[in-house]
Amino acid sequence: MRTEVTIQGLHAALAPARAARKSIGFVPTMGNLHEGHLKLVQEANQRCDVVVVSIFVNPTQFGAGEDFSTYPRTFEADSNLLAEAKCDILFAPSVEEIYGTQPQQTTVQVNSLASELCGNSRPGHFTGVATVVSKLFNIVKPDVALFGEKDYQQLAIIRHLARDLCFDIDVIGVPTVRAENGLALSSRNGYLSEDELTIAPAIYATMQSIQQQILAAKDPSKLNFTDFAKQGRKTLESQKFVVDYVEIRNPDLGTADKNGSKWVILVAAKLGKTRLIDNMTVTRPAIVVEA
Ligand code: PAJ
Repeated sequence: MRTEVTIQGLHAALAPARAARKSIGFVPTMGNLHEGHLKLVQEANQRCDVVVVSIFVNPTQFGAGEDFSTYPRTFEADSNLLAEAKCDILFAPSVEEIYGTQPQQTTVQVNSLASELCGNSRPGHFTGVATVVSKLFNIVKPDVALFGEKDYQQLAIIRHLARDLCFDIDVIGVPTVRAENGLALSSRNGYLSEDELTIAPAIYATMQSIQQQILAAKDPSKLNFTDFAKQGRKTLESQKFVVDYVEIRNPDLGTADKNGSKWVILVAAKLGKTRLIDNMTVTRPAIVVEA
């Protein structure tokens, strides 16, 4: 595995692959890698000839009072994991390499989708994400870019961004990797105390319970998504969570349609100082009408 810290170095490292018309897969990360990130690398290897992973803790997507300065930076361990996972090129630029020394005049702002759900409580967050991902797309120029479904809204925003700004890149979503107890793997799980770690899987259990209620409804017109979400919120609040939202939406994050057949349950909640997010897709099996 080659490690490059400059844009120029990355371009030079990629030149032979480009000349040979090899396909390039790209996995952007903020490091502190776990099995969830490695699943993206594995998937990239299956789809592409050359795999580039970036590690960049992007300051512009952290709000004031958020964890930018304390975000776990574990470069040595990450680098070893990526070499094992057959990453070809690790791109680990400095903040200056990405943002330069002059104030930025240009940002990428995604409209309504970025101001709801997580965007509501983290203003500016998705502008930071969309801007850095656009920069990284322009630097790496991959054929395929892979993102986790764990960050469902982020994935939806990046799909829009790629389409709206005409990036010629296939954006691929990869299913969430979970611990055995259901807790979605996340770099922020490292902030949880032992006590909190035993409570955190309640998010998964709550989503499962909502999923079961949706699937149990015989008459779709009686589906009451607001009630399901309210109950979910109550369950979490009774277990020390400070809930930001529990919502049920259509897969494209539009308003949930009772007559639809697929929905997504989205949760964001704080446990102590740690903000956790998760989601679960619900698909109603097709109703077979017998003649
Ligand atoms: P980060 O939180 O490091 O996540 C990098 C990628 O790993 C994202 O696409 C995320 O959805 C995916 N991921 C995280 N946990 C996962 C899990 N348990 N299962 C599957 N995939 C998982 O997301 C970011 O970084 C940043 O916002 C970034 C896109 C790099 C822009 O700065």
